[in-house]
Amino acid sequence: MKKVRIGVMGAYRGTSMINYCKIAGNAEVVAICDKWVEGLEKQKEQNVGLDIAYYDNFDDFIKHDMDAVVLANYAHEHAPFAIRAMKLGLHVFSEVLPVQTMKQAVELCEAVEETGMIYAYGENYCYMEGPYEMRKLYKEGKIGNLEYAEAEYIHNGETIWPSITYGDRNHWRNRMYATFYCTHSLGPIIHSTGLRPVSVTGFEGALNARGMRTGRGCGCYGIEMVTLENGAIVKSIHGGLYKNSIWYCMYGDAGRMETAREDAQQGAFGRLYVNADEYPSGYGTGKLENYLPKLTEDADIRRFGHGGSDYWSMYHFVEKIKGNKEADIIDVYEALDMFFPGLLAYRSVLNGGAPVEVPDFRDKSVREKYRNDTACTDPEVAGDQLIPIYSKGNPDIPDSVYEHAKELWRKDFESKTGYTQAAFTQSSTKRKDDGKEKEHGI
Ligand SMILES: NC(=O)c1ccc[n+]([C@@H]2O[C@H](COP(=O)([O-])OP(=O)(O)OC[C@H]3O[C@@H](n4cnc5c(N)ncnc54)[C@H](O)[C@@H]3O)[C@@H](O)[C@H]2O)c1
Repeated sequence: MKKVRIGVMGAYRGTSMINYCKIAGNAEVVAICDKWVEGLEKQKEQNVGLDIAYYDNFDDFIKHDMDAVVLANYAHEHAPFAIRAMKLGLHVFSEVLPVQTMKQAVELCEAVEETGMIYAYGENYCYMEGPYEMRKLYKEGKIGNLEYAEAEYIHNGETIWPSITYGDRNHWRNRMYATFYCTHSLGPIIHSTGLRPVSVTGFEGALNARGMRTGRGCGCYGIEMVTLENGAIVKSIHGGLYKNSIWYCMYGDAGRMETAREDAQQGAFGRLYVNADEYPSGYGTGKLENYLPKLTEDADIRRFGHGGSDYWSMYHFVEKIKGNKEADIIDVYEALDMFFPGLLAYRSVLNGGAPVEVPDFRDKSVREKYRNDTACTDPEVAGDQLIPIYSKGNPDIPDSVYEHAKELWRKDFESKTGYTQAAFTQSSTKRKDDGKEKEHGI
C-alpha cells in the first residue's frame, strides 16, 4: 500500500515523528528541514540509507514532492507555516501550540476551510494510555456527566533548560507567559469529554529564583480555571514546580476516575483508578477498580516518547490522510478549544483576574471581533498590542545567565554527538531566511 510521504520541519523534536515513519507501515519521511546546521547533519547521520532530502530553509523544503508536513519548529510560529503549507496542498501536523494570536487563529481556521486539507494538532498527551482510557470510559458513560476535573502538567525543567533553550535569551521557552503552554494539561479533558470551554479565569505563579537562574522570565506556573459548556469547571495547571507530574482527574455525576500520580512512570503511564459505585455519598472506597490501561502490547510502540503517545498522535494523523474513518485526530477547532483558555487566561491575569469569554471559532461570525487581535509577547507579531512576559513587568535577567546556559548546552551537545567544532548556529534570534517568513526572536 502507498505510504504517505512526509516532510518534517524541526530536527530536534521532529526526530520523534521521523522515528514514527521508520517503524510504521503507513508513512515515510522524504524531506527534513532545519536552519540549524548541526541538527541537520545529525539527522543525516541517523538516517543513512534512507531516501531523504535535506533543506536548511522552509522555502525550498515546501516545494519538495510530498503529501504532508510535520511542523516541529518554534512553538509560537506554527500557524504561518501551517497556512502556507495547506495553501500549497499539503496536510499539516502541528506541534503544540497551534497559534500565537487570535488573529492567527482566524487565519488558520480560514486556511483549513478554504483548502480542505487535513490539519491535525499534535497534542500527544491526549493519547497517553491513562487519559485515553478515561476518554473511552467517559464516552461509555461510566462516570456520567462531567461536573469537575483537574489536570496538571508540571515540569520542573531546570536541569534540561540549557539544552532546550541553548542560552538564547529570545528562545520562546524564555519568552512565553505563564499560561501559554496549556494544552498538555487541559487538552486531554477537552478530548475525553468533547465539551467546549466557554469562560476562563487565569492565575500566574510568581517569578521565582529558579526562573531567574534559568533565564525563564515569566511566572513559574499558570492556572486556568475553565468553565465548560455544561457548567463543569476544570482546574488546569502547568509549568515549573518542584517535582514533575502529569495527572488527570474527572468527577462525573455518577463516578470519579483519575490517573496515577505519585507512582506514575513517565507521567500518565500508570494505573487508572475508577470509582463508579452505587453509593456516591459513602466514605468507603466502594467498588474501586484500578488497572493498567494499555493501548498495545507492542514494546516498540510503548517505548515511544511521552508514554507511547508520540506514536499514536502521528498514527491517527496518517490514518486520517489515508481515509480511515476510525482515525481520531484533534482538528483545528478542538486545538483552539484547548489553547484559547491559556491565551485568554493571561488576559484575565492582566485584568486583575476577571473572567474572559472563550469564543467558539466554528462560528465564522464570532471570529470577526478577533481578526485584528495581535496581542502577544512577540514584538514583531504584536505591533502596538505587545504584552509583557510577566504580568508585573519583564524581569531584568543578566546576560551571564544565558552565557552560562549556552556553555552548558554546548558541552552537552558535544558529549552526545561527538561534534567538537563549536560552530553553533542554533539561535532563534537571527536569521534572514525564506523570504516571506521573516524569522523573529521569541
Ligand atoms: N508534544 C510534546 O510532547 C513536545 C515535546 C517537546 C517539544 N514539543 C514542541 O516541538 C516544537 C519544537 O520544540 P524543540 O524542543 O524541538 O525546540 P525548538 O523549538 O528550540 O526547536 C525548533 C527547531 O526548529 C528549527 N526552526 C525554527 N524555525 C525555522 C525556520 N524558519 N526554518 C528552519 N528551521 C527552523 C530550529 O532551528 C529548531 O531546531 C515546539 O513547538 C514544542 O512545543 C512538543
